[in-house]
Amino acid sequence: MDKSTSPIGLFDSGIGGTSIWKEIHSLLPGENTIYLADSKNAPYGQKTKEEIIALSCKNTEYLLEKNCKLIVVACNTATTNAIKELREKYDVPFIGIEPAIKPAAIHTKTNAIGILATKGTLSSELFNKTISGFTGINVVEQVGYNLVSLIEEGKLESDAIKELLQKYLAPMIEANVDYLVLGCSHYPYLVPQIKEILPPHVKIIDSGEAVAKQTKKVLEADSMLNVSGLKTETLFYTNANPAVLKEILGNKYTVEQKDF
Ligand code: SIN
Repeated sequence: MDKSTSPIGLFDSGIGGTSIWKEIHSLLPGENTIYLADSKNAPYGQKTKEEIIALSCKNTEYLLEKNCKLIVVACNTATTNAIKELREKYDVPFIGIEPAIKPAAIHTKTNAIGILATKGTLSSELFNKTISGFTGINVVEQVGYNLVSLIEEGKLESDAIKELLQKYLAPMIEANVDYLVLGCSHYPYLVPQIKEILPPHVKIIDSGEAVAKQTKKVLEADSMLNVSGLKTETLFYTNANPAVLKEILGNKYTVEQKDF
């Protein structure tokens, strides 16, 4: 069956995965997309692996009911804890997001890189396997406690976020990192605040562009790229108050509140 005009589904613990959606939408404007913000259950980063798997299955099943042809797990915590189980359980291609450690580790000149991510990501087997491949590089890991909750509340400009970032980035500045890897899809929304704290030579990298390229590659390989030229549709669903999601999308899209 030709699934090329079916939507790409994306899910995240909340609004942060829209940073990934933006990259996908920009690279693949001919694709229909459905974005699920599971904000009612955010943050995932403090939950157990079993809880994260259960929530990821719930989101996947909702997207499959909507006939999605490919699912992007637009959440680092869900990717690192649940993507193996999702791939085993469901017959649809999954694209996950992993922190962009590799480009940072390859290009660092100071031999020190920082990674800011959730507890769930930094303690996962997948992350620790990745990191073990980069011996000889000082990887300064930092859990971004409370950042996701504040972003979900729309408090991007708050003093509370600025104070937390000061605290979390201080050991990285101390270690002379020249790359900061953002290991959570919510964090790209904090780049302006992070830039105010880090020395200007520190490069900040996230995984959005790489995820979009990988999505395109998989769709091409499976002959599922939408080349119909038909008008496309983007649907945003949240199971919490839609106001913050609307705002982060620049009030340009309709956001529907659904029970999933
Ligand atoms: C979270 O829900 O704690 C963050 C999601 C992520 O890791 O991208």
